[in-house]
Amino acid sequence: MKLIAPSILSADFSNLALQISQAESGGADWIHCDVMDGHFVPNITFGPIGVKAAKKCTKLPIDVHLMISDPDKYAEDFVKSGADIITFHQEAVIHVNRTINFIKSLGVKVGIAINPSTPFSVLSEVVDLVDLVLIMSVNPGFGGQSFIEKSLDKIETAAKFREENKLNYLIEVDGGINKKTIQDVERAGCDVFVAGSSVFHTENISLSIVELKK
Ligand code: DX5
Ligand code: ZN
Repeated sequence: MKLIAPSILSADFSNLALQISQAESGGADWIHCDVMDGHFVPNITFGPIGVKAAKKCTKLPIDVHLMISDPDKYAEDFVKSGADIITFHQEAVIHVNRTINFIKSLGVKVGIAINPSTPFSVLSEVVDLVDLVLIMSVNPGFGGQSFIEKSLDKIETAAKFREENKLNYLIEVDGGINKKTIQDVERAGCDVFVAGSSVFHTENISLSIVELKK
């Protein structure tokens, strides 16, 4: 599977509706919303209001990536704002199993994300419960960073574990995805490719998605 999830972190917010529709006409599959709280990561973006605005612009699934310290406290607000998938960070919570079940109970799909320094093995006891595993290929917090090559091994590990254990989670990769890096990431076993600057910081948003989908 090859799904492209453009991240509106790199979009022009004064032109959000137009830019999302351009992404859609290029073949975007999901719209990725990067929520940052200035605590779990050293940057602040937007909260439920931003997700609600994105939802109004599209019928595509809204993929919410919570880079926040207390996902349990805010998950419901994001569901009310139109999230279809909510992904939280393993590093942010103590009781991972509880958070997974709580988000599922809200009626949305659930994903779990891991930072570049976190091994895939920390997920072995919970990965059968999630719909998606998000492997960060940059340190979360900012768009426009370079892809960390070592992430390829981790993607392969996640794909192998899925196969060996007959599981169904999607593997999503986030950070530094562009025309050059996407091929290796696809080969390693990724299904959902998040792309911010390589989509929105270009002359032609639709065409950039078409290029990534090739
Ligand atoms: C990083 C965010 C990413 C970011 C990716 O913290 O989670 O989704 O928008 O941006 P690019 O594609 O520019 O690396
Ligand atoms: Zn993200």
